[in-house]
Amino acid sequence: MASDLTNPLLDALSASEAPILSNEAFPSHPSSSVKSALDRLGSRQMVEYETLEKEVIVLTSEGEEIATNGSHEAKVFAAVVAAIDGLKISDLPGLVGKDNAKVGQGNAFKRGWIKKDNDKLRAATESIVDETREHLLTVQKTRALGDAKVLADLKRRKLIALSKEIAYKISKGPKFAREFVKEETDLTPEMIADGSWKTTPLKPYNFNAKGAPTTAGALHPLNKVRQEFRNIFFEMGFEEMPTNRYVETGFWNFDALFVPQQHPARDLQDTFYIADPLKADPPHEDPLSDPHRLKATQPASQATKDKPVDYQKYWDNVHEVHEHGKFGSIGYRYPWNADESLRLVLRTHTTSISAYVLHKLAANPRPARFFSIDRVFRNEAVDATHLAEFHQIEGVIADFGLTLGGLIGFMEVFFAKMGIHQLRFKPAYNPYTEPSMEIFGYHEGLGKWVEIGNSGMFRPEMLESMGIPKNMRVYGWGLSLERPTMIKYGVSNIRELLGHKVDLNFIETNPAVRLEKE
Ligand code: PHE
Repeated sequence: MASDLTNPLLDALSASEAPILSNEAFPSHPSSSVKSALDRLGSRQMVEYETLEKEVIVLTSEGEEIATNGSHEAKVFAAVVAAIDGLKISDLPGLVGKDNAKVGQGNAFKRGWIKKDNDKLRAATESIVDETREHLLTVQKTRALGDAKVLADLKRRKLIALSKEIAYKISKGPKFAREFVKEETDLTPEMIADGSWKTTPLKPYNFNAKGAPTTAGALHPLNKVRQEFRNIFFEMGFEEMPTNRYVETGFWNFDALFVPQQHPARDLQDTFYIADPLKADPPHEDPLSDPHRLKATQPASQATKDKPVDYQKYWDNVHEVHEHGKFGSIGYRYPWNADESLRLVLRTHTTSISAYVLHKLAANPRPARFFSIDRVFRNEAVDATHLAEFHQIEGVIADFGLTLGGLIGFMEVFFAKMGIHQLRFKPAYNPYTEPSMEIFGYHEGLGKWVEIGNSGMFRPEMLESMGIPKNMRVYGWGLSLERPTMIKYGVSNIRELLGHKVDLNFIETNPAVRLEKE
């Protein structure tokens, strides 16, 4: 730590009638330690000061070298004098170094210090005055130089440089005293008991001081934005779906969603398959995924009357719908393979969870709103905006008599809650929804339309297989969590947000986030 100049500064001031200059009073102290003493004394009005900025001349490292050891030409002269019978020109670099020889020889000639005689250098004078060195010594001592021509020349030769020096003109303040009395920062029980609090100088409370940084854990930006979305869903009456199944069967991830077994999305290039075990059990009640919240929302009296969830019937229906068609659908008409359905995948979307939950709902249908926000996996080429894993925000609404217009209307309310007020819908295709719509939103900050989600009304093939009543319709939509997070935090490369390249400092210090909710 730099030495504390608080009391030395008060001493210097009391010894002088006139204001003092910090560079004269404390020439060997860095201006930063003068400044911290001034801040301390200034805040108590013990001193007043003015900041002076002065241009000074300093030596470059080459200038320092010459100030110590002499100029190039002086070195050449010394080498020539030392030779007994003249100095061969070709020997000079070996004696004084290449640079000295090159620059110094010319200058020594110009000054008439040496002469050439049959390829040999000889002294042309008895003694020399090394002016360059003298000038540099003057600069070193005074940080200034009177002769402008010499100054320009030394600057051109890069032996000196201009620099700024900060000095303070310091005078006594209204509360000047000879000694800086440390102010107490704590009022103790003892001070109160013995009455010394009345006379003890107390440090005024600094309301502008920043608190000490706490050593605590930090939420990842994705978690913060996720929480914002959860709040939007909760405030709109949604129940959260259990998303703990990263590994799903092809059944829940694809077949239940009417994705044919030959669909390109099921290819190895798009989906990660689990090698061991190769096969899972047919669909069944998953106690770990049991959406207890779904039950909790039902009155106890009704819960006792709950009809059981029939997985075998569902499995058979899905099989039939794919292979021959059912419920008014002509199906895909291909031989449906049960083993393909039982292969394990890393879920490619959270719609697998929606299928599980909707099927459960179908046993005891009621209007319901569900959402989930969790990780999904896709075998994608990784680039600045794509990773092989990301997070999906998904919503599902089941009710009687829903229409497409209602879905569009709902989207307008939903996205307005995160500050997106202009929406456009584009017809799209999902095997499990009809009609399907891509959702575009006008991003005020970015000044352009960005794709923000995918949506649709689940197909009757899918819903009726589950046992959802014919007149009940279900909306579904999904969006990525990464996209709004990247926009919110101004991150343009997703690898700065997720994965091994993430700067932990960014995670630790990033501010809380708010979606501009209505
Ligand atoms: N599963 C879709 C996706 O991954 C999102 C979606 C969910 C679309 C529900 C329609 C209905 O993009």
